[in-house]
Amino acid sequence: MNTDQTTLTIRDVETADEKAVAALLTEAFPSETEARLVHTLRHCGALVLEQVAIDGSGRIAGHIAYSRVTPAAIGPGQGLQVACLAPVTVSPGLQRTGIGSALIQRSLEDLKAKGEDLVLVLGPPAYFPRFGFDATLAEKVKGPYAGAAFMALALTDAGTRDLPVEVAFATPFEEFE
Ligand SMILES: CC(C)(COP(=O)(O)OP(=O)(O)OC[C@H]1O[C@@H](n2cnc3c(N)ncnc32)[C@H](O)[C@@H]1OP(=O)(O)O)[C@@H](O)C(=O)NCCC(=O)NCCS
Repeated sequence: MNTDQTTLTIRDVETADEKAVAALLTEAFPSETEARLVHTLRHCGALVLEQVAIDGSGRIAGHIAYSRVTPAAIGPGQGLQVACLAPVTVSPGLQRTGIGSALIQRSLEDLKAKGEDLVLVLGPPAYFPRFGFDATLAEKVKGPYAGAAFMALALTDAGTRDLPVEVAFATPFEEFE
């Protein structure tokens, strides 16, 4: 089943959305960890892009956040603009209807337009490769995460050319290392 994409609106998060976003994250994940992560990232100024998907009835049906990842000051990748996708969330009753895909595709286009070179994600290896995320590319990104669930997507030529790169994630991710 696919959500009617003509009634789905994707836009940047506004201050008035914060409570509904926190409620969505708390409902979709087993604990409040992700809701707290997004709140902390937002209020420490680490978010590069945060968007919501609004369904035909005006309800927030999905959310996505990208935070700044900092390349080490030495090495070929020191000039790269790197972002981390975490988390992406769809309301439990609306999952697997295309909302997550629509949010990811639209936000990646917006990140490319903003000049981001490389996007990292830690997520299901059965889901993210369909958007171009690749665990082999991520092997050239040195940091706290590794393995099949750690994937990377280059949005520019520099995103594949200026590797390897050593990176640091925003401080609130230390809870997940
Ligand atoms: C993961 C998530 C964002 C996907 O969004 P969605 O709108 O449900 O998914 P879509 O409708 O865009 O895509 C559906 C496809 O993704 C697959 N898929 C969905 N969630 C998946 C998961 N956790 N693992 C593997 N595949 C998954 C479905 O099997 C389906 O595959 P198909 O196209 O081959 O049939 C959503 O299910 C969700 O919010 N899950 C809970 C939170 C979470 O785990 N977020 C990801 C980690 S940050």
